[in-house]
Amino acid sequence: MVSTDAAMKKIIRMLMAAAVVAAAAVGAWRWWRTANIGPVERGRVVAEQHGCFGCHGPGGTHGIPNPGSSIKAVPAWDGGNVMMFAANEQELREWILDGMTASRRKEADYLKQRNAMLVRMPAFRGWLSAPELDDLVAYVKAVSWLDAPKDELARKGRDVASDKGCFSCHGPEGRGCLPNTGSFKGYIPAWDGADFPDVAGNDDEIREWILDGVCQRIAHHPVGGFFVKRQRVPMPAFRGKITDEEQRALVAYIRWLRPGPGVP
Ligand code: HEC
Ligand code: HEC
Repeated sequence: MVSTDAAMKKIIRMLMAAAVVAAAAVGAWRWWRTANIGPVERGRVVAEQHGCFGCHGPGGTHGIPNPGSSIKAVPAWDGGNVMMFAANEQELREWILDGMTASRRKEADYLKQRNAMLVRMPAFRGWLSAPELDDLVAYVKAVSWLDAPKDELARKGRDVASDKGCFSCHGPEGRGCLPNTGSFKGYIPAWDGADFPDVAGNDDEIREWILDGVCQRIAHHPVGGFFVKRQRVPMPAFRGKITDEEQRALVAYIRWLRPGPGVP
């Protein structure tokens, strides 16, 4: 009897130890998969979770019709709209927290027009944590291009990236981490992310990615090569479909996002 009890206790202790190890492994796995996901991608998820896209459209780029407002639609966050509504980051925060800016609150004409709108910007104060608000602001800023590169070539690179569809996969301003089924970490690494140098260590590798859809180092790496073939959203090879000048501009733009070795 005693020996059966002791055996049972031993089994329970072993099961508990196994459960702790399993929980730690799952935690480490989750951390590894998400540690380098930046504020812009987190902000996109926060926007989705709080219903922003219901009125501002998919990704915040296609506002629904809004009869009664001067622009007849909910303002999208891209295409220069945000600059007409918010002079700076502080005003962005005011829009999100209070549904209008402090300065607009004092304008009788604006308040009258606001009342006439079919849909109004809700006040989210009390409904967002401080980190959620920071991430949302990072996302809205990236979608709206609130900060522009001063360098002309880098600015051109941003336009090239937009025209060629790069931001559609790499997220607004290339700062997103959109999901990629079957890939190494489950997402497409942001151009400003901490893990970018693991996949593109210098300017030559950046150019290889753009021209061949992969860089040689990763293509011939046993693990990297495996995941590049396995991922369901591949990087297109732009060779023959992009000029040298456009490539230089793209690299300059990526270097504006993240200074690094081999600035052209
Ligand atoms: C019920 C519809 C609705 C929802 C939901 C909504 N908005 Fe708005 N938002 C508006 C409208 C309408 C305006 C324009 C307000 C005005 O002119 O008074 C606006 C304006 C803004 C602006 C400033 C103007 C611009 O460029 O878009 C920002 C920034 C903004 N919203 C962010 C957000 C965020 C972030 C969320 C989610 C947390 C959100 N909105 C959810 C309707 C909405
Ligand atoms: C159809 C989606 C898609 C488009 C469009 C796209 N890419 Fe990619 N890109 C990817 C994927 C997927 C990877 C690989 C990520 C990995 O394996 O780590 C990648 C990797 C890269 C990398 C290596 C670093 C990183 O972020 O992973 C660079 C640099 C890059 N792309 C630049 C560009 C540029 C510049 C354009 C536009 C000219 C572009 N991409 C368009 C999907 C895309």
